[in-house]
Amino acid sequence: MGTADARITRLVADLNRYSRLYHEDNVSEIPDQAYDALFRELEDLESANPAFRLPDSPTQRVGGLISSALEPFVHEVPMLSLQNAFSAAELEEFEARVRRHLGGGPAAIAYQIEPKLDGLAMELVYEDGVFVRGGTRGDGQVGENVSHNLRTIPSVPLRLRDAPAGRLSVVGEVLFDLSGFEAMNDRRERDGEKRFENPRNAAAGTMRQLDPKMVQGRPLLFFAHSAGLMPAECMARSQSALVAQFARWGFRVNPLNVVVDSVADVVAAIESLRVQRPGLDYEIDGAVVKVDSFDLQQELGFVTRSPRWAVAYKYPPERVRTVLEGVLFSVGRTGAVTPVACVRPVRVGGVTVSRTTLHNQDELARLDLCVGDTVEVERAGDVIPKVVQVVADADHAHRARVCFPTLCPECGTVLIRDAEEAAIRCPNELGCPAQVRRAIQHFASRLCMDVEGLGEKMVDQLVGAGLVRTPSDVYRLTFEQLLALDRMGKLSAQNLLAGVDASRSRGLDRALMALGIRHVGEATARDLARHFVTLDALLCATVEQLLVVEGIGAIVATSVAEFMARERNQTEVQALRSLGVRFEPIAAPVQAGALVGKVFVLTGTLTALGRDEASRMLEAAGAKVSGSVSKRTSYLVAGAEAGSKLDKARELGVTVLDEAGMLALLAASGGAG
Ligand code: IVH
Repeated sequence: MGTADARITRLVADLNRYSRLYHEDNVSEIPDQAYDALFRELEDLESANPAFRLPDSPTQRVGGLISSALEPFVHEVPMLSLQNAFSAAELEEFEARVRRHLGGGPAAIAYQIEPKLDGLAMELVYEDGVFVRGGTRGDGQVGENVSHNLRTIPSVPLRLRDAPAGRLSVVGEVLFDLSGFEAMNDRRERDGEKRFENPRNAAAGTMRQLDPKMVQGRPLLFFAHSAGLMPAECMARSQSALVAQFARWGFRVNPLNVVVDSVADVVAAIESLRVQRPGLDYEIDGAVVKVDSFDLQQELGFVTRSPRWAVAYKYPPERVRTVLEGVLFSVGRTGAVTPVACVRPVRVGGVTVSRTTLHNQDELARLDLCVGDTVEVERAGDVIPKVVQVVADADHAHRARVCFPTLCPECGTVLIRDAEEAAIRCPNELGCPAQVRRAIQHFASRLCMDVEGLGEKMVDQLVGAGLVRTPSDVYRLTFEQLLALDRMGKLSAQNLLAGVDASRSRGLDRALMALGIRHVGEATARDLARHFVTLDALLCATVEQLLVVEGIGAIVATSVAEFMARERNQTEVQALRSLGVRFEPIAAPVQAGALVGKVFVLTGTLTALGRDEASRMLEAAGAKVSGSVSKRTSYLVAGAEAGSKLDKARELGVTVLDEAGMLALLAASGGAG
């Protein structure tokens, strides 16, 4: 602990100094990537040791900083955020607040209503009318410089018409043109590439590309909506006049903006936008209401970073109708059975939904679902879509009602009701193929034994072939057995066995979590391992002894004691042990630098080093090099002709480095440890 404490203090001091030098004196003491790596190390340490988080930690700034190989972009004027309203009543409160602050104000206050464009906010800077740079929002003060990509967007004017001399900046939104987006997706599919899931994320990924050639030709739009830095002589008198000015300069502005002068008309204008929304060729997620007059705006001022003169009205989550085609009952690792609705694929809230959880039997009963029913599906933001209700129709009563099964859909065992958790469970822990698959998947997963090469599909195949029924079977696999499997070559078999071998030394805490003891997650497993130190002490621990461990209550203690007391669990643990799995504390790998804990994926042709050499160097610095991109990838290093891995990384928002960026990171992390 002492070392984490010291390291955190050191990192906070260093990062704050680099950041101050950078922003105030324009001096870069270390490359951005190295800054990033240190920042991430700090985030990791803080989340593992929250008590040591310092109030002046750079991770505590709103929005955080940006991890990227892109240059930072310091905003000319801090970018605003808006307060939200979700109902007509909240809009009325907004108007009442405005009036209160203006001491009553003029008889009629004019408001401009604008569509709230569901894209990415950008600031574009012009000098003597010429576009010089532009960047993303970031934390409002500093974003990422994406000038190279902005230049490729046809609606970003590179030279303004009749612009004033000097520097000015314009704020607006970059977003996909929806018909272009669909066409682009169809083309990608034809070319064997993955379709983008939704326009907003695709736009974010696109704008963060390092190579503008990847951006060119993508159907992106830029709408200008606000002033950044604006010289006094061209400052308009109102928001509506400003937008007209933008149009004269050559910007694309939104044709649906309107000015109204009563709350009733504000509500009506927003309603009108809602009606037009489905026919628009770009996505909007609400409307922005702005006091039109700049004099009044100035009088109203700001509360922290939000202006008092504007509010963002957000539409309620999108709801669409589709048909319930069936309900699946999925059996989880602990045997809990969850109903899953299969619906006719439908787009809602920016994604295509075909399956969605129905949670449990109470929810299933509440919905009163019949196969063939029309149902309403809702999705807001990044939330999991859900079935809200059945649309009543005359045939509902004649359709077959979906009932919770009494037998396990996977193994036919009679299901039991788990009173404690209101769940329905299959009690056939060892024989139910679904539970066996899930238990092994859990065992091999990254936070547990992290068996490289043993992903979900591989587990299904091994369990299906009868080669694996218990975790210990994983360590009994032979090369010949693997080779006999479908689609298994020598190299994959060797790699899998190497992954299995490496997983033997994950240490007591992870091995405990891997066993899948009810209520024992990452933190509990760590507490148990720290307290008991050896497996033998834990195997014979009583509930009373377990309760002594800080953070462990009666439910967990009972669950652990019961697990350890069962003969078959003891046999399995002994089997694992005799197969070389180490149930003992294992020191974390030497903290050799900023790259410990980072996962790299290399793709494309690396010209300076070659992949083997690059892997060796990364590993020597403590990083892990993996073959496939996932959410857990810290960095993708993209060489020439990088393909699908690069796309995937962008889609997932993984930081992409080129070879030079990787070398800079290596150089910096070697010295930073
Ligand atoms: S005015 C940059 N007007 O909504 C702040 N914002 O909640 C400017 N947005 O991130 C605020 N359409 O990017 C404004 N017509 C519009 C907008 C709009 C979309 C976004 C903006 C900001 C967010 C504010």
